[in-house]
Formats: sequence, structure tokens, C-alpha cells
Amino acid sequence: MRKMYLLGIAISLSSPSGWAQTPPSALPPKDVFVADLLKQMTVDEKIGQLRLISIAPDMPRELIRKEIAAGRIGGTFNSISRAENRPMQDAAMRSRLKIPMFFAYDVIHGHRTIFPISLALASSWDMDAIALSGRVSAKEASADSIDLTFAPMVDIARDPRWGRTSEGFGEDTYLVSRIAKVMVDAYQGTSPALPGNIMASVKHFALYGAVEGGRDYNTVDMSLTRMYQDYLPPYRAAIDAGAGGVMVALNSINGIPATSNMWLMQDLLRKDWGFKGVAISDHGAIIELIKHGVAKDNREAAKLAIKAGIDMSMNDKAYGEELPGLLKSGEVPQSDVDNAVREVLGAKYDMGLFADPYVRIGKAEDDPAELTGESRLHRAEARDVARRSLVLLKNQAQTLPLNKQAHIALVGPLAKAPIDMMGSWAANGQPAQSVTVFDGLRSALGEQGQLTYARGANITDDQKVVDYLNFLNFDAPEVTNDTRPAQVMIDEAVKAAKQADVVVAVVGESRGMSHESSSRTELDIPASQRALIDALKTTGKPLVLVLMNGRPLTIDTQQQQADAVLETWFSGTEGGNAIADVLFGDYNPSGKLPITFPRSVGQIPTYYNHLSIGRPFTPGKPGNYTSQYFDAPNTPLYPFGYGLSYTNFSLSDVKLSSKTLAPGATLTASVTLKNTGQRDGETVVQLYLRDVAASMSRPVKSLKNFEKVMLKAGEQKEVQFILSEDDLKFYNADLKYVAEPGEFDVQIGLDSENVQQNSFQLL
Ligand code: BGC
Repeated sequence: MRKMYLLGIAISLSSPSGWAQTPPSALPPKDVFVADLLKQMTVDEKIGQLRLISIAPDMPRELIRKEIAAGRIGGTFNSISRAENRPMQDAAMRSRLKIPMFFAYDVIHGHRTIFPISLALASSWDMDAIALSGRVSAKEASADSIDLTFAPMVDIARDPRWGRTSEGFGEDTYLVSRIAKVMVDAYQGTSPALPGNIMASVKHFALYGAVEGGRDYNTVDMSLTRMYQDYLPPYRAAIDAGAGGVMVALNSINGIPATSNMWLMQDLLRKDWGFKGVAISDHGAIIELIKHGVAKDNREAAKLAIKAGIDMSMNDKAYGEELPGLLKSGEVPQSDVDNAVREVLGAKYDMGLFADPYVRIGKAEDDPAELTGESRLHRAEARDVARRSLVLLKNQAQTLPLNKQAHIALVGPLAKAPIDMMGSWAANGQPAQSVTVFDGLRSALGEQGQLTYARGANITDDQKVVDYLNFLNFDAPEVTNDTRPAQVMIDEAVKAAKQADVVVAVVGESRGMSHESSSRTELDIPASQRALIDALKTTGKPLVLVLMNGRPLTIDTQQQQADAVLETWFSGTEGGNAIADVLFGDYNPSGKLPITFPRSVGQIPTYYNHLSIGRPFTPGKPGNYTSQYFDAPNTPLYPFGYGLSYTNFSLSDVKLSSKTLAPGATLTASVTLKNTGQRDGETVVQLYLRDVAASMSRPVKSLKNFEKVMLKAGEQKEVQFILSEDDLKFYNADLKYVAEPGEFDVQIGLDSENVQQNSFQLL
């Protein structure tokens, strides 16, 4: 066997990769290894490493492999199997320095098995369930040779007009930060170098969820205190958890695009937060600096981005074409490019690719016989996580759970919607493998009861909207309308309803309505479906609304018409089974809203933790000259943290171990939670704090802790939360993270509105 020495490491040339047989421990430490490699690289090879290329199905593979072998591509995304990626890695192993490629993908809420959308995962408030979804996703993606995911997406969203609200974990800084860490840990495991784990690249840095008016890609203008207090902590939490990558946002921040923002990328991310990983631009974001109006051409755009510290250019033209000239002219110093290359190589080292470029690709003989095979799915996990994410919003007169002996009329355009069930960003999810609500009810009933189905309405009859939703899907349009007249469909549904004991209407949005580039000015259920609900109401039959949607909708009228409302979001491959579990009471719902439901678009923003103001609106005592709308109620339709169960819970008063808290000490707040109903069930006990008088106006309440508690019928439990000075800290006007002495209210409840209160003094 011939051996050569490269970078001081013995490499077996008989292996396909050269490095493939080098165990990780044999590599020198990362800094030494990367510095050595960097010294050997030509300028072109360096620039090549900064290019992340999207692999479309129709791209000429031969050409891509040539480019890779010439050292002109650092990584790809959207190629999603070992068989596809192996030849590309082989090409990299033919390149002069054999620097491995990495393969990335948007694994957002599942890879082959699709879990509920992120907003739904957050609704579970169940960190174990959320972690399980991340672990399964990492395992499945890794088994398909994916090294890095563009996730978690932790943009705080307080304006549900924004379609990407569905992709994040809601409106609350604390909850989203907790989940950010859980997700990074789940993806990366003990190390992103190991097979079965993948590297996390947190996005979209920063503040993308605050785009003006909820219009995607728009401007963000925000005070520094709000940024530090409310919007930045989730990214920070992901980075502190060790996320290897950061994806940079498409928006500008106070006039400066994130992609060219020196303060954001250098001062905050690198210097203050000490981020050591790779910073990746969003898709085409570098040349978008021209349209942002901060660069006159591609050359200037590339210069601004590399100077800001964008290491990799996604779907690159700018870096490949412009950096050679910029380096030659001295406009960009070599050190800027070297810094970027160092981060890319460092990330590859951390992904375990220098130790074994085939760590996730494996051997051809071990490739799965059938990529989309049933045996590759994790259905039990998906079903369990999905049912934990469902939120019961209304249940009048115990309409739910349904009786399995009943005659059920199942209606609505989303009752048999396998594509929509997966939600947007469904990675490799196969519609044919997703369980619809119809499938779920059918299999739960078996031989019992009776199930009659009628579509009842199209998702929307607005052809312009249908065309928009199908814009990118020419081959197989996602939204296909039934061509029968609307009234014919409604009549059929009404007939089915009249013959049934109970009506279950599955209504809401198609998945494309809650997606990137899917902002809405209205958040109503589309008109065609509202007409269906109106007609069903006239039958007088008990009406259960099963909502499928990726953002809060304005459903005040429909929730009044309904006897029960179950929010199911888009619940993934096993959604239909999970929904059936809850509808029939085989699982007692325990989800809580991670985002406020407004009554109308005019109320937006409606987030619960707004700052105290001088003339607050006081429910129950409305008066002139207080902050309110006079033409509609001021409270939200459903508050943050809200969700019912089939049992009832009561909470005692809040007991505090002391009325004072000294710096460095702790204080215990406790309540007794009792299951006062007839069924075992779980709920989320939520602790909120209010800083009564501080150097700045502080939120009326902020979530600081929570615990999901399971209690048998009749059982009670004392739930304790330990508070320390850290829980009281905030960013003051000088951006110092401080706790100020004075009074604090402790509010504990089963949602953010109905709370028990006590107070203490920070000394
Ligand atoms: C999105 C990112 C995504 C990227 C790659 C962009 O359009 O904004 O969130 O990771 O595409 O698919």
C-alpha cells in the first residue's frame, strides 16, 4: 500500500478518499490543521471554498463534478442522498488538496419523517418531544449524507401576516431561546463530527421575524434595547449551545442589510458573542445588496459581504466572479478571504469530514434499497410528538372527545390533504406517506361508527391566489380545485352533516399560504371555507373545527359558530393519526399557544409581553383616554400560553419562600396544581415576572420558566420554581444586563392572562 504524507498525516492512497481511514484522533488540533492546510492553498482554491452551490435536479452533474475536482466549490445544498453526493465527494477527493465537500439541506421539522411545523413543536412546550423531533431528523438526514442543516429558525415572530411565522417557534423570547438550545443539542448530539449527528446553522441572523408589516424580505427598524431584550437572545442561545453555523438574514437592520452589516457580523456576533463557526449568506443575498441600494454592482456587493464576515456565499456568483479581482487590486485584503476560508475549513473539521469525508455517505453497498422506503420512517415518534403539539381552543359542552360509535360527517378541503399535512419546508417528506385526517379517523374507527366524507369547499376559490400558490410547482400543482360549483359542494356537505351526529370540519390554509414569500393582509379562513362553515352551522349539528394553518388566524366568528376548535397547525407525516388520537380522547390534549391569536388584523401586533404604558387599557373598566381601540375588544382572541384539556386544573395562590431576594441568593415560588376533572391529563404551569418600577418601562409580564406536568384525575402536585437575580435581569438603556432592586410581581398561570400573583423585593 502506497502512503504519502500530507500535513504530517499518514494517508492511505488506496482508500477512495485518502483521509477516509484517518481516525479523528489522528488529526492535529483544529487550529493547527486548518492553518497548515490554508498555507498550501492557492487563491482560487480558497475562493472555491467560499462557494455553496444549490444542486437543482436538472443541473449537469458532470460539470459540477468538474468544478468540484478543480477546487471551485466548497459545499452544496439540496442534493439529498448518498448516491447523489458520493460522486461529488469522490470529485473532491480528486482535487489537488482533497478538501472534502459538505452537503447541506433545509431540515427544518423532519427529513424523511415529517414532524409538526416548528410553530406546532413550540405549542407542545415539551422539550423532550421537541428534542426527539430534532434527534430523529438528524439521524435521518445524516443517513442520507447531509452534514449540515439550515436550522433551527429562531426568528421571533409577532406579526402573523408574515408567512414564515410557521417556520419559527413563536413570539416569546424565553420559550424560543429554550427551544433553540434544545434543537442545537438535538441536531449536533455530543459532536457534529459523528455520524448520526449534523451541524446546526441557526437562522436568520438577525431579526428577520420583525420585517415591516409582516411583508417578507422587508426592512427592520428597531431600538437596540428591544433587539437585545427580545429578538437577539434566541440566536445567542443557539450559539451558546454550540451551533456550528449561522445563516445571515435577508433583511436590513436600521438601514444596513445584515449581509453587509459590520456591527452585526463583527462586533456583535464575533466579538461580543465569541462565535467561532461559519457564517453563511442566505440565498443570493450578496448580490441583493445591489437592490438594497448599498452596492453599485456585484463587485462592490462581494467586497461589502466579505468585509462584514460572510464566510460562504449561498448560490454564489459574487464571490467566485469578483473576489479574484478584488484581491488582485488590493480592495479586499488576503486576510479577509483567509479568515472566511478558515471558518469554512473549521466547520468541515467540526463536521468530521477531514477525519472521514465519507462519514455520512458511507459505502455504496450500504445505501438504502429504497430511499423513501417505509422502513426508513419514524412513525411512532412523529405521532407522539404531533399529538403533543395540538391545542384545544374551545370545547363547549364536552363536544370532544368524540364517541367512536357516532356517525361523523368529515368535511372540508383539508380533510384529505396529504401535501398540506406536511407543512412547508417538508424536506424529503413524501405526501403519499402522510396520514390525512380522513385516514386517521378511518383507522381509529375501524369497524365502529360511521364516517361520511364530503369536501364541502375548495381551500380558496380565488384563482389569483391559487395561481400564486402554484407558481413554483408547474409539474404537480399543490393546490388543485374541485371544479364543481361551490354551492354543489356545500349542499353535499350539508346533506352529510344532516345525516350525522357530529360534524368535523377541517379548514384553514394550504401549506403554501404559510411559507416563505407568503405574507397575507388578512388572516381570515378563506371565503369559500367560511361559507361552508356558515352552511354547516345551519344544520344545528355539533360542529368541531379542526384548524390546519401555519400562523394565528382571525377566527372570532368561526369559533363562535363552532362547539369545539382544535388547532392542529400542520402536523406532519403522522398528523391524521395524532389528530384522531385527540378527537377520540385516546390522547388528552396538552398543547399551549406559543403565539397570540388576534381578533383582527387591525390589532396586530398583539404579543402578550408589551411594555407598560402610561394609560393602559383596563379590561372590565374601559374608559376614554386609555390605550385601546373603541371599535372592537382590546383583548386577543386567545392569549399566549392558552390551551384547554379534557380535564380541568386548578391552581392555588402563589407561595413565596421569602418576600425578599438578596443578590446571589434564591427564592422559591410555588403553587399547587390540581387535576379537578375526571381524566388524567397534562398542562403547562407558566411563571411570569413583572419588574414593577425600573429605570426603563418593562413588560407587563415576561415568561421566565414553565413546567409541563402530568396529573392523574384528582391528583395534585406542588410545582416549584427557583428564582435568582439572573431571572430579573434586563438590558437597560446603556445595554448593560442588570437586575435593579425593587418590587417584582410573580404571576403563575396556565396561560398568560389568567394568573395568580404575589410579589417580592429584590434587595
Ligand atoms: C431561505 C432560507 C433557506 C435557503 C436555502 C432561502 O430562500 O430564506 O431559510 O435556508 O433559502 O433553501
